[in-house]
Amino acid sequence: MTLLVEEERNASLFSWYRAEQRSFPWRGETDPYRILVSEAMLQQTQASRVIPFYNRFVTRFPTVESLAAAALQDVLALWAGLGYNSRGLRLREAARMIAADGWPTTPATLVDLPGVGPYTASALASFAFGARVPAVDTNLRRVLSRWHGEPLNGASLQAAAATALGDPASDWNQAMMDLGATTCVSKVPLCGACPVRDWCSGPAGHTPPRTQGRFEGSARQLRGAIVRSLVRRDATFRDVVQQTGFPTTQVEMALADLMSEQLVNRDETGVYRIAE
Ligand code: ADE
Repeated sequence: MTLLVEEERNASLFSWYRAEQRSFPWRGETDPYRILVSEAMLQQTQASRVIPFYNRFVTRFPTVESLAAAALQDVLALWAGLGYNSRGLRLREAARMIAADGWPTTPATLVDLPGVGPYTASALASFAFGARVPAVDTNLRRVLSRWHGEPLNGASLQAAAATALGDPASDWNQAMMDLGATTCVSKVPLCGACPVRDWCSGPAGHTPPRTQGRFEGSARQLRGAIVRSLVRRDATFRDVVQQTGFPTTQVEMALADLMSEQLVNRDETGVYRIAE
């Protein structure tokens, strides 16, 4: 009677979602461009932090064409506080491809856009193009692993997601995101408040991943500080060291990373600036 379990669980999930869903400016959005912007920002950044960045970004760049024509400096000026700035560069590249060739509409073709991995492709296909696909990310993996009572990976994760998927897929994906973000959280899940606990094996199916090391945390912080400074004005190596207060070896590594990501250029006089 597997089918009955899935149906009952999804019915309970959907009624919880109708009552408790979080309010976001991209919820219920049908414009694929706005959905793409939101999903690019939501990769690696908490939804509550994304809201003001999203609102400013779509006000300044309301269409694919406006973003495709934008200077990287202007894009990063609106992106900088979010971090992981190469997402902003890749989003502009995606906008350029879409402006030239039109929208891909399936997960298999959406992944060809820069910055769009399998998760984002599925999220876009379901939210913007009505595809019946689950959007599998770490949150969905955690929730499904708990339902099943063991860590799911690869093919078993995809199969579990395909079986569990409710209808419409767009609402199911959003409901699962909310469940994972508010209730079925990684470390101390709030099982007492969970709408689907009657159909779940409990928290043990998921092992919390190790958190990011201190060194990578500070290197990322430094790269972010450099971009925030360079969107305001160009700078020499010495300026960057003075503005960030980091040791020269770390600044050197961070600038090298930013240049290899094609976010920053250095001219022949040694001045660093945001790439074109
Ligand atoms: N995380 C990734 N996509 C999201 C969305 N559409 N809503 C809330 N959180 C998300």
